[in-house]
Amino acid sequence: MRDIKFLTKNFGKYDTSSIDSYLSIGGFDALKKAVTMEPTAISDLIASVKVKGRGGAEYDMGRKWSQARDVKGDNKLLICNADEGETTTFKDRELIKNDPFNLLEAMIIGAYVVGAVEGFIYMRGEYACYRPLLLDAMRQCREKGFLGKNILGKGFDFDIKLYSGAGAYVCGEGTALIRSIEGKAGRPRMKPPFIKVSGAFARPTCLNNVESFSIVPHLLLDEKGEYASCGSGNSIGTKMVSVAGNVNRPGVFEIPFGTTVREIIYDLAGGVQHNHGIRLIQFGGASGKIADASILDTPYTYEALRGAGVMVGSGGILVIDERTSVLDFLRMNQDFFSEESCGQCTPCREGNLHIKIILDKMAEGKATEEDLRVMEKIARVMSMSSLCGLGETAQNTLMSAMRVFPEVFQAGGAR
Ligand SMILES: Cc1cc2nc3c(=O)[nH]c(=O)nc-3n(C[C@H](O)[C@H](O)[C@H](O)COP(=O)(O)O)c2cc1C
Ligand code: SF4
Repeated sequence: MRDIKFLTKNFGKYDTSSIDSYLSIGGFDALKKAVTMEPTAISDLIASVKVKGRGGAEYDMGRKWSQARDVKGDNKLLICNADEGETTTFKDRELIKNDPFNLLEAMIIGAYVVGAVEGFIYMRGEYACYRPLLLDAMRQCREKGFLGKNILGKGFDFDIKLYSGAGAYVCGEGTALIRSIEGKAGRPRMKPPFIKVSGAFARPTCLNNVESFSIVPHLLLDEKGEYASCGSGNSIGTKMVSVAGNVNRPGVFEIPFGTTVREIIYDLAGGVQHNHGIRLIQFGGASGKIADASILDTPYTYEALRGAGVMVGSGGILVIDERTSVLDFLRMNQDFFSEESCGQCTPCREGNLHIKIILDKMAEGKATEEDLRVMEKIARVMSMSSLCGLGETAQNTLMSAMRVFPEVFQAGGAR
């Protein structure tokens, strides 16, 4: 496995409480370079290495920035999604904690590219301990002229505010996040209008994940093309993954795309506890899909994972060993969605509850064939007719389990 530090190259290299320390390792060189470039050249650079948004939806980032730039308006907003509510996902936390100035620098570059005048970081409530770090970093950026009016004398203005969520998973969804920033209940809304045209406070808004932003300064200074030399196809560069569950060394790792799932779990995360066998692996958090151990030699790329029936999603990898049954895992996953559904639309509100009831019946050995048929039907209806991504993806895990572990879904509730 190739040992590469791209996104993590600044980790431990500077004092994260001091902008002078960041400047001493070349901090803000990327911004200084960016403002000498045409904004479109920056979005083209991002598109050329096929960066896909790292928040889960895998939307082409260069395209997003060029579309945001093309939207008319002189009051555009740029938002960093630091809600990181997806289960088993904690990579953004490491980027915030270990390289806060890089994130701010990335947002300033983003503002220059899309033409935003104001920015927000929406950070999950549980990360409140990093608020002082970010607030102080912003203050220092203002003092040095990297935030505020006429940045670097180039005639563009931009400043950032920090918002904290209150613990709702659904607030990571773009429209719910925006409503939360606006001071309303954090519930998703129908689209269109799309947020790039009418987002927070009805202003054109560009929203990206922490990791997506964090790539940009490194990419601008990547003279040797190190990023592009990793991966293949549509999976170029490196990826932050967070590994959790029954592994010996849970944690966050930066991997070049193409590293195998086995290398991630056994070499980086130290293998399965007590040498147990693997029952299942869930990719991309609670809204992701699961596979059995036959996926171990699959390269971690967008294409290969999709071919194996799972997806990169949020970058979370949860390893469950043979001590837990598939059914117990599904019930635990379902509890999460029954709890986190905002209740606004019927398929998701009722569907999640009904599926939970049927899974519980399976656990008691009382589920009938009709129950199982109904459960599958509800899962399909939810994925097609829910108002937002939460309801659309809540049954990804269940539906993938039906494909990978058909023996679990038998009348009476065999395990
Ligand atoms: C229920 C739900 C929760 C989400 N939570 C997050 C999150 O915590 N962080 C995140 O970056 N994106 C999250 N997303 C995806 C965002 O809606 C959006 O696609 C993303 O922030 C865009 O940034 P990107 O293009 O850089 O990935 C969530 C989506 C849904 C439907
Ligand atoms: S799909 Fe679920 S979370 Fe999304 S709006 Fe409907 S009820 Fe709320």
